[in-house]
Amino acid sequence: MGTLFDTYGREFSYLRLSITEACNFRCLYCLPDGSQRQVGCGNSRQDAPLNVAEIENLILGFADLGFRKVRLTGGEPTLRPEIVEIVRKIADIPAITTLALTTNGHRLSELAGPLRRAGLNVINVSMDSLDSTRFQEITGSRLLGQVRQGVEEAVRVGIGRVKINVVLLRRSARQNLKDFMEWVRETPIRVRFIELMQTQDNGAFFQQEHLSGDEFRSDMEALGWKEQAREALDGPAREFCHPGFVGRLGIISAYSHNFCGPCNRLRVSSRGKLKLCLFGEKEYSLRHLLQSPEQREELVCAVRSRIGEKASSHFLGDGIYGSTKHLAAIGG
Ligand code: 5AD
Ligand code: SF4
Repeated sequence: MGTLFDTYGREFSYLRLSITEACNFRCLYCLPDGSQRQVGCGNSRQDAPLNVAEIENLILGFADLGFRKVRLTGGEPTLRPEIVEIVRKIADIPAITTLALTTNGHRLSELAGPLRRAGLNVINVSMDSLDSTRFQEITGSRLLGQVRQGVEEAVRVGIGRVKINVVLLRRSARQNLKDFMEWVRETPIRVRFIELMQTQDNGAFFQQEHLSGDEFRSDMEALGWKEQAREALDGPAREFCHPGFVGRLGIISAYSHNFCGPCNRLRVSSRGKLKLCLFGEKEYSLRHLLQSPEQREELVCAVRSRIGEKASSHFLGDGIYGSTKHLAAIGG
């Protein structure tokens, strides 16, 4: 048992684990050409995503390191046929008190109930527009209606926190603010506008569509949204409330001042590589240490020996975006 600190005194308790690089959407800022990756289980050993036993061994190790929160990401994690089993296995580990999933929502109407029963507490659904034409333009998918139903179902079955991720794009920001405001008037969800981040693959799109979080924030404030005081364990979102609206709005701006200061997270890719930062160059394979529960101590030592290399910040403002081609590879 223990805790994990880096050289900047930051304590790590939150693991983001990608469980597949595959995705059935092709968002303009992420995978405009789609992903050709395999979802599967039985591919060549090193290319296949971690199997359920490897995932369980990984989380048990991180629990020993003091981790309490796990988020499953992708790609699109619900493309893994074993998604409910994976959630159940992790939720059954007593040290893990928060288990979250980030999804594009296309299977959520059928999965919300089973995921909730398996122990999922938090769900983030990506929805970049509530207008089906614009949604299709951004994601390549016609499934807006189905995604929206999935969100309503997640609220209905009582998944603790239901959040919507909306990437801030210059061309849809104003309309989105109106449409999402309308939705949160009576629906207890948290809609978070995420500042577009530049990756290796999305340069031209970034130039056209990037809108700063600060600019958008003034639009929100003009409509009466008030920022809430931050609490110690809050993530990078700044949250806003409005009397008369049951839901909340929020802004996550990766380019803002001191975004990395309170960083409490590490990432592991779908093939078991530890990434110290979303935009960092460094990664270390942990897969060989996930083959049996007896390797737990070795795994713990391996992570401890790497943490000292974590940098203080992502340096995105300096135009550095590391080895990150697109976020489907690592899950945002
Ligand atoms: N910038 C900001 N957010 C992104 N996402 C994916 N790529 C980017 C990017 N370049 C977000 C998606 C989704 C989550 C998985 O990551 O909107 O909500
Ligand atoms: Fe798929 Fe998410 Fe990337 Fe869109 S942002 S292509 S839903 S992985």
